Amino acid sequence: MTVLVTGAAGFIGMHVAATLLDRGEQVVGVDNVNNYYAVSLKEARLATLTARPGFTFHRMDLAEREGLLDLVRKHPEIDRIVHLAAQPGVRYSVENPRAYITANVNAHLEVLEAGRHMKKLRHLVFASSSSVYGGNTKLPFALEDPVDTPQSLYAATKKADELISYSYAHLYKMPLTGLRFFTVYGPWGRPDMAPWLFTEAILAGKPIKLFNQGKMQRDFTYIDDIVAGVIGCLDKPPAADLVPPYRLYNIGNNNSEELERFVQVIEQACGRKAIIELAPMQPGDVVATYADVSATHRDFGFAAKTGIDEGLPRFVEWFRAYHKL
Ligand SMILES: NC(=O)c1ccc[n+]([C@@H]2O[C@H](COP(=O)([O-])OP(=O)(O)OC[C@H]3O[C@@H](n4cnc5c(N)ncnc54)[C@H](O)[C@@H]3O)[C@@H](O)[C@H]2O)c1
Repeated sequence: MTVLVTGAAGFIGMHVAATLLDRGEQVVGVDNVNNYYAVSLKEARLATLTARPGFTFHRMDLAEREGLLDLVRKHPEIDRIVHLAAQPGVRYSVENPRAYITANVNAHLEVLEAGRHMKKLRHLVFASSSSVYGGNTKLPFALEDPVDTPQSLYAATKKADELISYSYAHLYKMPLTGLRFFTVYGPWGRPDMAPWLFTEAILAGKPIKLFNQGKMQRDFTYIDDIVAGVIGCLDKPPAADLVPPYRLYNIGNNNSEELERFVQVIEQACGRKAIIELAPMQPGDVVATYADVSATHRDFGFAAKTGIDEGLPRFVEWFRAYHKL
């Protein structure tokens, strides 16, 4: 059978699709290839997938009413969905609020509607985010913790996705699992995120900005660990007797790194010192993230394998090769 991967031209979507193809699955990818960041990077990711047997791609805006519904009707062999398409980024949501409602709420609804009308939906896994923990100060962030204090519209839309999904699982008995990802990095990563911004600036001898005067902590998760978590979860839909068939998990490295150490590891991988500018806290940002992954470990045997000492040099190596630096 076949897996539908939304956001297949995106960072995580490309890696999930590639790993599914590696194990012999058929993959239908969907993405609108929007210009939130360089379209050339999205096209280059897609080129690595379209070259492979078993992959078909549809350029489509998921927010368009019934577009995905038509697609799943034409592809009755699709039996699982990994929904990763979204408008990401915390800071961009301050300037562009509507993009988040369109991509993260309207498009999310269309994905659920498509799933609802499929003859046999075995499992729909969707991306949520650690940002739903908002202003929480109790670390690590655990699934039982309240998540009613979003610090950005991005976080609010991800929390909305969780609630809307729960209602679909309740009403239509759809097997749904939400995954709260914690800061994901690795080869083919996003140009708006710290690993890319810092590596680019350090290699060019330009200054990097450390917000909140550098006093930040993040649970950085290497892409291979995220992919293992997504696919491990996809393979284990909620048990038939779970009412409603809805679950949530954290996927993180279970280790919160100081930003200063993170910068040092990139400096080492680049072979150059960073020029550091300290800046105030950005609106929408949170000071620390740290994932409690005990439920993810218990139910899927999930355990992150790659720390930043191994993962960041791999990112820097990819970055140099991609830019021929
Ligand atoms: N990367 C992280 O650190 C991180 C952390 C937490 C959660 N997430 C979530 O994981 C998912 C994947 O993130 P990513 O880092 O790969 O982001 P990404 O921006 O690289 O990928 C998202 C893809 O979705 C596509 N897309 C956006 N709106 C669309 C629409 N309306 N129709 C069709 N396609 C659309 C974009 O073109 C893009 O290729 C997102 O849901 C994101 O919110 C990511």
